[in-house]
Amino acid sequence: MTLLRTHTCGELTREQTGETVILNGWVDTRRDLGGVIFIDLRDRYGLTQVVFSPQDDEEAHKTADQLRSEYVIGVEGEIRERDSENVNPNIKTGSIELRVKKLVIYSKSETPPFAIEDDVKTNEDLRLKYRYLDLRRPAMQRNMLLRSAIYKSTRNYFYENEFAEIETPFLMRSTPEGARDYLVPSRVNPGKFYALPQSPQTYKQILMVSGMDRYFQIVKCFRDEDLRADRQPEFTQIDVEMSFVDEDRIYHMGEGLMQRILRETAGVEVPVPFPRMSYQEAITTYGSDKPDTRFGMTFVGFSDIVKDSEFRVFSKTVADGGTVVGFVVPGMGSLGRGVMDRLTKRAQDELGAGGLIYIKNNEDEVYSSVSKFVSEEVTLEMVNKSGANKGDLILILAGSKKTVYNQLGDLRLMIAKEYDMIDTSKYNLLWVTDFPLLEYDEEDGRFYAMHHPFTSPREEDMDMLETDPGNVRARAYDLVMNGSEIGGGSIRIHNSEVQSRMFEALGIGEEEARQKFGFLLDAFKFGAPPHGGIALGLDRVAMLLTGAKSLREVIAFPKNQRAISLMDDCPNEVDADQLEELHIRLAPIPEKG
Ligand code: AMO
Repeated sequence: MTLLRTHTCGELTREQTGETVILNGWVDTRRDLGGVIFIDLRDRYGLTQVVFSPQDDEEAHKTADQLRSEYVIGVEGEIRERDSENVNPNIKTGSIELRVKKLVIYSKSETPPFAIEDDVKTNEDLRLKYRYLDLRRPAMQRNMLLRSAIYKSTRNYFYENEFAEIETPFLMRSTPEGARDYLVPSRVNPGKFYALPQSPQTYKQILMVSGMDRYFQIVKCFRDEDLRADRQPEFTQIDVEMSFVDEDRIYHMGEGLMQRILRETAGVEVPVPFPRMSYQEAITTYGSDKPDTRFGMTFVGFSDIVKDSEFRVFSKTVADGGTVVGFVVPGMGSLGRGVMDRLTKRAQDELGAGGLIYIKNNEDEVYSSVSKFVSEEVTLEMVNKSGANKGDLILILAGSKKTVYNQLGDLRLMIAKEYDMIDTSKYNLLWVTDFPLLEYDEEDGRFYAMHHPFTSPREEDMDMLETDPGNVRARAYDLVMNGSEIGGGSIRIHNSEVQSRMFEALGIGEEEARQKFGFLLDAFKFGAPPHGGIALGLDRVAMLLTGAKSLREVIAFPKNQRAISLMDDCPNEVDADQLEELHIRLAPIPEKG
């Protein structure tokens, strides 16, 4: 017998007192108090206290004795107000209980390997193996529902703004650029492979050539790259492309979308337009192309002051084209010698810094860790330039520009986390603009596209494509929230001649370009509109809005750090017959170790 529910476990209040209702759900907790059995019944919507007493129904009370955690049941009975001392003001149903007249056990449960509660104390592998139980925990249900709300706000926003939702293929041509492709063998075309899309980039550009004008898609992307807390091998993008636009129009669209998502899913109002910062400025003031602007400690350059210092670490660094740069840590001038030594060691071990130089700007003395080598006059000049107040600490690194900014950026984050300087109630969004078009790889001895090879160079830099490719700026932008890159995009090349020059700069010959992207180059020959777009990492947005520490908390069935799904144990070996059919023979598998 099924008792079909009349209500959910999260909605009944005093108003329903006296009504007969039916609830369905999972047994959360069970208490036996002097022959009266109390359970909290749980479903996605909440908890309701359910009471089995022999006075209400003998048989239901007897059956209730069998109930254990995670049994699935149906109960019918009357809503009563709780005695005032038993009211739980923290939940909506906290002032009522259901007195059971009828109980049906739908299914029993083995003892779960961990408690179904928010503060679960178990290792993540076990949670991932029993993901269906993990997803029963209210915290995970909230995460999944927030994710669902993001889909809803996104779709509504785009539909209201005349975007067409168009699906692009998951089985596509392999065009490795950036990460590695996941390959899928073709049975009917022996020896040939599809690739799973790293993003629908080429398709969405072709849709613009097709005149679709405004496209969006909430789409899975696949990248076989090294995993981190904010990277999954399959992840979801909010993918957008628009025709006849410039950067401003894309920013405007992106700001409207983020404003809507934040308002509707987290109740947060963010002001628009978002601030913009050039890549160059982001690197030289925050040491990162995804600056966390929720706190200060921006960088101060000291090279001009120390270039003639007798201290070789300073003067030689500057002479060699490097830089001496630091930031002020407010109120930390009193940190003791031991703390500073530990910080220096961490900067060396964790960030790879050569050493950490510091000045404590205290009332009684201005202490410099390199006072033996640097004159007091220069030290005071540095303090002055830094804008440090009395009681502040100045941290300084010297070295090549490429490494020092990075290391100092990491140090800034390390300090802010360590000393709890980040206001986590803030949502700081900004555009990082003017990325370099190309990035030189010393090892490979060639340029790579910093964003992707379809990104347009800035008009005024176009002439340098052949003469000074490293200094060409791209019409590319990232959207950054609280120090995370949540989106990236660009205005595209829409002209096959410029596209060919770009391929040349990338060392991709005509033959190779034709072989990899011939279809796109061909499409551009038939009237391509100027176009551009962006893709937002939906998982990352969900992660930031839930305050989760990893993407795995906001993806229903994620992979672990080794790209394995522990619940269904994939990837797995396949039958020899399956391989045969796909014309695949395995090379010897290297021993683990
Ligand atoms: P990009 O490679 O910058 O751009 O990706 C866009 C956004 O997707 C998210 N993201 C990821 N999220 C989780 N796991 C990953 N492995 C992962 N990789 C990327 C990030 C990132 O900002 N086709 C272009 C977009 C365009 O030009 O329109 C693209 O894919 O939040």
